[in-house]
Amino acid sequence: MEQTFIMIKPDGVQRGLVGEIISRFEKKGFTLKGLKFITVDRPFAEKHYADLSAKPFFNGLVEYIISGPVVAMVWEGKHVVTTGRKIIGATNPAESAPGTIRGDYAIDIGRNVIHGSDAVESAQKEIALWFPEGIAEWQSSLHPWIY
Ligand code: TYD
Repeated sequence: MEQTFIMIKPDGVQRGLVGEIISRFEKKGFTLKGLKFITVDRPFAEKHYADLSAKPFFNGLVEYIISGPVVAMVWEGKHVVTTGRKIIGATNPAESAPGTIRGDYAIDIGRNVIHGSDAVESAQKEIALWFPEGIAEWQSSLHPWIY
């Protein structure tokens, strides 16, 4: 089953959006498979965003991510990577549709509340980085068509 890595960034934590964000993924029907409340250091944040290291906003992005605790999660379900990105909304909150997390709760691209993997391969890499100890396996006792 497909999994994605979702992170509530420091502004999302400090603004009290953790419950709301988790609720949106739960109500959609996705399954929470991993969760940790963690403050990461600079080398770790630089590794997470390694693909963006040449971008002019890279240093500011790393400063932001290490500025406070984040909520790191693994969510599972059919098409969870693509659908998760839809729930999150466009990168720039000025362009995120109302009804998406960024569309409803963010204004600045540099404070856009949440991260979600952009592809199945990057999800696998990010889950391995953030959860090196692995994810505890559990199965719902409900029928799979009951969300
Ligand atoms: P990116 O991976 O392009 O977007 P997404 O988070 O939607 O996958 O960029 C990572 C983060 O970098 C993005 O969430 C916010 C920040 N960022 C900026 O601060 N300025 C920018 O111009 C861009 C493109 C991103």
